[in-house]
Amino acid sequence: MNQDQMKQAVGQAAVDLIRPQLASDSIVGVGTGSTANCFIDALAKIKLEFDGAVASSQATAERLKSHGIPVYDLNAVNNLDFYIDGADESDGHLNLIKGGGAALTREKIVAAVATTFICIADQSKLVDVLGAFPLPVEVIPMARSHVARQLVKLGGDPVYREGCVTDNGNIILDVHNLSIVDPVQLERDINAIVGVVTNGLFAARPADVLLLGTPDGVQTRKAQ
Ligand code: A5P
Repeated sequence: MNQDQMKQAVGQAAVDLIRPQLASDSIVGVGTGSTANCFIDALAKIKLEFDGAVASSQATAERLKSHGIPVYDLNAVNNLDFYIDGADESDGHLNLIKGGGAALTREKIVAAVATTFICIADQSKLVDVLGAFPLPVEVIPMARSHVARQLVKLGGDPVYREGCVTDNGNIILDVHNLSIVDPVQLERDINAIVGVVTNGLFAARPADVLLLGTPDGVQTRKAQ
């Protein structure tokens, strides 16, 4: 199985996992990225079995709509049983780095609402220690230099993501050279910097389940 096939396999596995619990009024939280797209394509095949979705980005909303899946504003929804999304890295505790696609803030909001967060990823995303993937931080544009200086004090090397404007109108700093041994604390510390909207560590609210694509099939992992 190549990487694309592993992404398709975990997308289908997520549909198989949630399908028994979907009802005609269910609304599903949907993430962003190439693996989430595989999930959307698999979800579309059972679109008559649930009501609709909440999207974590404009791109995801467009893909859902292209399949004829109704997209709801999160504020119109009381609860989400499931949020399904990819990741840039996961450790064994299912702490994640996300935001490679710049959708981290809306992803974190939808994940916060969902009862169960199912992460879908190919095996290249599983790491012992987070941080080889540069940590995305969404920042209010006027605070860019201030936030960058504070991130250096935390031991990172922030790099401005050229040409990237988030769905919220902000910019992204990608923080290189972090070895993240305490992701919960670092998530908190970065979010405390004035001008930061949010950062791509999902540790205060990690995934509940990781469906990991391997050449031998999909493994189901829960936080250790
Ligand atoms: C989007 O902002 C990210 O959080 C994605 O979930 C992450 O980058 C994974 O994307 P892929 O599935 O394309 O690797």
